[in-house]
Amino acid sequence: MRIDIISVVPAILESPFNASILKRAIEKKLVEIHLHNLRDYTADSYKQIDDYQFGGGAGMVMMIEPIDKCISKLKTERHYDEIIYMTPDGKTLNQQTANELSLRKNIIILCGHYKGVDQRVRDHFITREISIGDYVLSGGELGAAVLCDAVIRLLPGVLGNETSALTDSFQDNLLAPPIYTRPANYKGWEVPEILTSGNTPKIETWREEQAYKRTAEKRPDLLRDFEE
Ligand code: ADE
Repeated sequence: MRIDIISVVPAILESPFNASILKRAIEKKLVEIHLHNLRDYTADSYKQIDDYQFGGGAGMVMMIEPIDKCISKLKTERHYDEIIYMTPDGKTLNQQTANELSLRKNIIILCGHYKGVDQRVRDHFITREISIGDYVLSGGELGAAVLCDAVIRLLPGVLGNETSALTDSFQDNLLAPPIYTRPANYKGWEVPEILTSGNTPKIETWREEQAYKRTAEKRPDLLRDFEE
């Protein structure tokens, strides 16, 4: 998979890809990340990428031309399955969207800044608009990093244990059950006996029950969505 990220502050995106699982995924060539500085696609010596909004009002708007130049150049080099715009008014990111995107070959992620981009960018280039939650960030970069993390960890070979992404919370619309590790007794706080019984079918049943119970307590909305 290849991900091209377009931003006015690509430096924000350097560290998330430079540690732990994402770094290893890049080193193992399971994913390529290419950062593009939008200012490299400006025509003037001021490297202007934003301007006042037509009709008046506070805040600057990202201009269409540098974005068009950057996206059009990338599109001459390869086919892109998705061109995503990170914005608080997009569809809220969930596991299903991450699963879908993990099956794509090439995607572009455009990070918004200031008031956002000229609407014509959204109308003519963007195939999907994604928000990472109902709050406003100072730019789309951190959202793009969250999206990339959620997608890349699903790629085959990225996680050490291939099955572990399948047992994540949300993967079957249930939260994950409680987990424990050694010691079995810490200061009198004991691990549920079933987990040390060695009875695998019973452990599985217990985990399913716990996942359901936890979801009903913490996120009943997920069960309602599931039943609909
Ligand atoms: N840009 C600003 N706020 C955002 C959000 N909540 N999600 C994605 N991109 C954003």
